[in-house]
Amino acid sequence: MNYNIALLRGDGIGPEIVDSACRVLDKIGEKYGHKFNYTPYLMGGCAIDATGVPLPQETIDGCLASDSVLLGAVGGPKWDTLPGHLRPEKGLLGIRAALGLYTNIRPAKLYASLSAESPLRADISARGIDLVMFRELIGGIYFGERGRSEDGLTAYDTEKYSTYEIERIAHAAFKAARLRRKKVTSIDKANVLESSRLWRETVHKVAAEYPDVTCEDMLVDNAAMQLVKNPAQFDVIVTSNIFGDILSDEASQITGSIGLLPSASIGDSTRGLYEPIHGSAPDIAGTGKANPIATILSAAMMLRYAFALETEARAIEKAVDDVLAAGHRTGDILGASTVTPLSCVEMTDKIIEAIC
Ligand code: IPM
Ligand code: MN
Repeated sequence: MNYNIALLRGDGIGPEIVDSACRVLDKIGEKYGHKFNYTPYLMGGCAIDATGVPLPQETIDGCLASDSVLLGAVGGPKWDTLPGHLRPEKGLLGIRAALGLYTNIRPAKLYASLSAESPLRADISARGIDLVMFRELIGGIYFGERGRSEDGLTAYDTEKYSTYEIERIAHAAFKAARLRRKKVTSIDKANVLESSRLWRETVHKVAAEYPDVTCEDMLVDNAAMQLVKNPAQFDVIVTSNIFGDILSDEASQITGSIGLLPSASIGDSTRGLYEPIHGSAPDIAGTGKANPIATILSAAMMLRYAFALETEARAIEKAVDDVLAAGHRTGDILGASTVTPLSCVEMTDKIIEAIC
């Protein structure tokens, strides 16, 4: 089969890690008889430099015409002083909304070979961590009304959710839980926020359609604590855009490094957007120190969700497992290990060798 993938390499380490993922996809194509065609588009800081806006129309059209989208990362100090609507991040939010990607799936699992890299103690809580976060991606405070008063002394952002928006992400979470350990934890702040009270009621209604799945509620402050105290209790987490943003960074760190964690953003069509959960790391861009694993695993998620190529997705995930188990490390996951850290290209080579 032929698959057309739009590439949004972005800024900082984005281009290096996307190129790594494409090399891995090409190896998969060779082995299993697929052809992946790539078309690059500008988004983020690089788009601002070339066109004056973070998300050119051509990029939206190109993504809509593709079978799937692979993204590196956007942003950097160079664009930090631009007004909100012209920042690189606005490009990312815009493409998520333009493609209708309301479900952001962020798995966090602790590799046995990396348990020493977790900042949590192996004898207390760094064990059995295997959770997946379902973050609502195109609603809530990220997209609510915002503004400043005329005198500039007051500013506001609005958290707003409709039952429709809550239902669709909740269904995605419950369906996923059915294929896992059949437990959903819905995270909100229903003791304070009206939008959270609607969230909770709506999730309960959806839960009634999945009697085989256990549903529990957790307040977000407690969830932040539980992720450190006993992360193994979580199977599927479902939460709002901003809570999911914050908690997924926390979840990633307890697995050793944010450099390992992939994500899939999907909507009602099979086309999705696949990206590492980390940022553009401008401090190490161009040094070869970037960890390509999160983007490579995002490409695996693309094979699974966009193209229904489960065997191929697993081949990538197994190769990453094997390479880590063999002791290969990039600088971010070195921990106490005394091996020489691999560069981005060298780590990619190892993973490609492991897919034989
Ligand atoms: C993420 C990022 C983005 C977000 C930023 C860059 C807009 O932090 O994907 O988690 O907050 O969604
Ligand atoms: Mn984030």
